[in-house]
Amino acid sequence: MTEYEHQLSRRGFVRTSAAIMSAGALTAPALGRLRGQRDDTLHVGLVGCGGRGTGAAAQALTADENVVLHAIADAFPERMSTACNQLTDGFGDRIAVDRSRMFAGVDGYKALVESDVDVVLLATPPHFRPMQLEAATRAGKHVFCEKPMAVDAPGYRSVLESARRAKNNGTSLVSGFCWRYNAPERATYRRIHEGAIGTIRSMHVTYHTSPLAQVPRQPGWSDMEWQLRNWKHMIWLSGDHIVEQACHSIDKINWAMQGTMPSKVTALGGRGVREGEASGDVFDHFSVIYEYDDGARCFLTCRQQPNSSNDNTDYIMGSDGVCYVNGWGPTHTITGRETWTYDGARTNMYQVEHDELFASIRSGKPINDGQWMADSTMLAIAGRMAAYTGRTISWEEAINSQESLSPESYAFGDLPPITPPRPGFTPFK
Ligand SMILES: NC(=O)c1ccc[n+]([C@@H]2O[C@H](COP(=O)([O-])OP(=O)(O)OC[C@H]3O[C@@H](n4cnc5c(N)ncnc54)[C@H](O)[C@@H]3O)[C@@H](O)[C@H]2O)c1
Repeated sequence: MTEYEHQLSRRGFVRTSAAIMSAGALTAPALGRLRGQRDDTLHVGLVGCGGRGTGAAAQALTADENVVLHAIADAFPERMSTACNQLTDGFGDRIAVDRSRMFAGVDGYKALVESDVDVVLLATPPHFRPMQLEAATRAGKHVFCEKPMAVDAPGYRSVLESARRAKNNGTSLVSGFCWRYNAPERATYRRIHEGAIGTIRSMHVTYHTSPLAQVPRQPGWSDMEWQLRNWKHMIWLSGDHIVEQACHSIDKINWAMQGTMPSKVTALGGRGVREGEASGDVFDHFSVIYEYDDGARCFLTCRQQPNSSNDNTDYIMGSDGVCYVNGWGPTHTITGRETWTYDGARTNMYQVEHDELFASIRSGKPINDGQWMADSTMLAIAGRMAAYTGRTISWEEAINSQESLSPESYAFGDLPPITPPRPGFTPFK
């Protein structure tokens, strides 16, 4: 199952939770919804009302019965109505979004984070994550933010600052790198950290999948509107699929290597089969080599091409054994000093993210995923930089890059023509 097939099944989850929640719990008076009387109800604001944002809101509402959806924001008003209608089917009057708290437009998040919400869910295209994380943490809100965290190095540095701010605030910052919240992966990576396969010598992670749906330009749409709607194919908005999608697998390299960063990154990539305007400027395949000071080498291969064999597995080779992880399979096995297969509980990682977020808020013991969620994102960005330029790039160069993918303005008007990068010719900035 690909990430996006899984996304569809999460939509199914929204419907399922409708049936579960309407079975009684929703009518409980404990919600204490009278505004102006702050009780222990947590007020949630959702920024980005697409597939993942709607799913995340459902998971927040499922995590804690004293949660209401209080405010929403989206670049496009119709997205807000669709999300509200879908969620109301499942959660009834816990979808308490007054019209005055529906914030349309690319900048709508600013008003949302300044409103009286306690928790902000960030699920827009990744381009906007650093600025939204900054605004949410400056406003002192608890945050759930979808992966990836940024699309360029200035964004990475900004996310690290926001993570520090959240720590100083004592607020929670939970990331949507969902495998970190899945019981089988937690058990497997814990064993690897405990030495079950010895020292990691190499790791190969794959994200070989099919292309994502394109949104063709419609008459009357400006460049900005079309690119926002077709964001998964626009480098400046998505960071390319290595950042937007394969970051999940790259995060597992970071997890296995326990936060040690590579000293240099080399990569290949290109557009083998993508064509047509709606395919934007993103590549359709990447192959990345991360080299570490201790001699370990970790590899990512990722592909979005049709009619090809798919795989989404982590192959980890240690000095004393090997480990295979495929969360969809599911396969979690270790062969080496010991032979082990995970046979514990299976969890819904998307739900666990929110269960742990809301439990942390209730207990006053904040979670802060900041450093590793930013680093995993930057590892993906560094791989993209190396592929686009054709150059081996040091980690220091990558994290200090001054290249910003931001447009001059977010006004719904013209944008410069898009041109896919050319390895060997695209400069490193
Ligand atoms: N963890 C996972 O498994 C997983 C799965 C799918 C998506 N995601 C991530 O979730 C995020 C959203 O993905 P999606 O599939 O829901 O996309 P989507 O296109 O369905 O939804 C994105 C929404 O954001 C809105 N938007 C765009 N710019 C905005 C802005 N500046 N302010 C407010 N709203 C804005 C869009 O109009 C759209 O409604 C992405 O970062 C994606 O990588 C994570």
